[in-house]
Amino acid sequence: MDNYEKITELGRRRGFMWPAFELYGGAAGFYDYGPLGATLKRRIEDTWRQFFVIQEGFAEIEAPTIGVEGIFQASGHLSGFSDPLTGCKECKEVYRADHLIKHIIEVPDALSNEEIYKVIQENEVACPECGGELSEVYEFNLMFKTMIGPGNKTQGYLRPETAQGMFINFPRLLRYFRDSLPFAAVQIGKSYRNEISPRQGVIRLREFTQAEAEIFIDPRDKTHPKFDQVKDISMKFYSQAAQEKGEPEEMTFGEAVGRGIVAHQTLAYYVARTYQFLLAVGVSPERLRFRQHKSDEMAHYAADCWDAEVLLDHLGWIEIVGVADRTDYDLKAHAAQSKVSLTVFVHYDQPVKRKKLVVKPDMKALGPRFKGQAKTVAEALKAMSVEDLKGDKIIVQVGGEPVEIDPSLVSYETVVEEIRGEEIVPHVIEPSFGIDRIVYTVMDHSFYEDVVDGEPRSVLKFNSKVAPVDVAILPLMDRDVLVKPSKAVLDGLRSRGIRVDYDTSGSIGRRYRRNDEVGTPYCVTIDYETLEQGTVTIRDRDSMKQVKLDAQRLIGVLEELLAGDRKFLDAGVPVVALAAKEQ
Ligand code: ATP
Ligand code: GLY
Repeated sequence: MDNYEKITELGRRRGFMWPAFELYGGAAGFYDYGPLGATLKRRIEDTWRQFFVIQEGFAEIEAPTIGVEGIFQASGHLSGFSDPLTGCKECKEVYRADHLIKHIIEVPDALSNEEIYKVIQENEVACPECGGELSEVYEFNLMFKTMIGPGNKTQGYLRPETAQGMFINFPRLLRYFRDSLPFAAVQIGKSYRNEISPRQGVIRLREFTQAEAEIFIDPRDKTHPKFDQVKDISMKFYSQAAQEKGEPEEMTFGEAVGRGIVAHQTLAYYVARTYQFLLAVGVSPERLRFRQHKSDEMAHYAADCWDAEVLLDHLGWIEIVGVADRTDYDLKAHAAQSKVSLTVFVHYDQPVKRKKLVVKPDMKALGPRFKGQAKTVAEALKAMSVEDLKGDKIIVQVGGEPVEIDPSLVSYETVVEEIRGEEIVPHVIEPSFGIDRIVYTVMDHSFYEDVVDGEPRSVLKFNSKVAPVDVAILPLMDRDVLVKPSKAVLDGLRSRGIRVDYDTSGSIGRRYRRNDEVGTPYCVTIDYETLEQGTVTIRDRDSMKQVKLDAQRLIGVLEELLAGDRKFLDAGVPVVALAAKEQ
């Protein structure tokens, strides 16, 4: 068994995740999260909120997961959100055509359908199931269609990304942020894609969770006020140029922006925050790189895009986050579709003075000619541009009627106007996180096996920010004298918001193994010394060190440990008798 199989098996057996609808035979691309998986996922989402909602000050919103057709006409998903599909002529199984040639072409996304088919033919790529011949490649739109309400009147689609909910709420969000840039909105929620052949557990689902931020910025200034805080962080950049050489380049963010490898500070800042977040939840930096999209691979809306890719056992390099500069693509597209202007008035630091040629109607001549309507005619003339008035004939609308005016009645003058600002369409930087892929990555990168006292042990070395269970309370025996004080400890910890599990079944060693396997960082053992001397034992998952302490200190010490402060364990005297053999 490789790690993928082991983690998948552990996930099902121990209550992390399993294929959905098992009772009815299942359906590919849908997964349930069990008690431990749902908590792990929620804690990863909460850490994401810490980073992006609390620390960055972005506003979290919640939009419907079904959208009306206009949204996806504007966004380009109706016409262009598809993947290349091929099928087996023998067994009729269907496949993502680009995935079948990944071992031949590193980034097949850049190829046309004809080119993919050519690679299939030239390399004699056959059906992975039966070895049959594969059909030509064609596009398959990934959006799920549905009808809204009875009568088939309104076409709806399940959203393929949460992003559009932020774009179409732009006017309200702008008002919420008091009409000034930059600002950002986020959503954590379900997205839906009718994936062609979802065969990789929660890595490729038809219903999955995205956490996305849309950061609206002034396109004239793509510096970032907090860039200094991240400029010295170093990581692996797999830029377009590095991909030519086949080797990512380690450098700081300062260097990456300085050398023009990442287009600008704002994009780099959010790539850096993405990097910090992934490390915080337990992604291994050794198995993480940021790969820049090739220009012909970029999504239809993006000017630059960096994917966080992780190395997973069995699956290879997998994208888990995309950080894109979506420019003004979406706002312009929605403005054109909805006929609502989606701009921001930005004030200049100093008003700009500009000379301007303006229309000057001759009132002395217009008065006798148009009498009571002369003023209206003059206003209509002033509203026209100088260019429009250059023809032989001038027609203005007065009271809904066209009126012809002799050009000799109009002259021009130069005025100096003071311009205080302008209407602009913001650009959007978008970090888009696939939470399910991150959940699986955290499991894969935390997975560890060793042998203790001649017995194999498997461990999920979750950090205490994301571990589904913080502490397991283990009475040495399932006897009333020990159960009572154990339950009191349990209640005490729960009242402090600590996630506690309580386990009395099997030997203490077996219970340690069970907790190691699901990643519980600390176990607390209640034994006869608890009754006699008022002490309990904390057992650390990673070092397997056991330290006794006064039960009165337990909550405080656990709170320190869970916050990442391990000095208690480092200083504590190990309980030799218990530590020597975990039976
Ligand atoms: P892929 O090429 O692997 O299909 P993508 O380029 O289509 O991914 P994006 O459209 O950039 O992915 O989506 C943003 C994020 O959403 C991805 O980085 C990924 O983590 C997540 N994601 C996309 N599709 C799925 C899916 N079918 N199941 C689970 N997560 C997904
Ligand atoms: N919002 C980016 C994506 O889902 O493709």
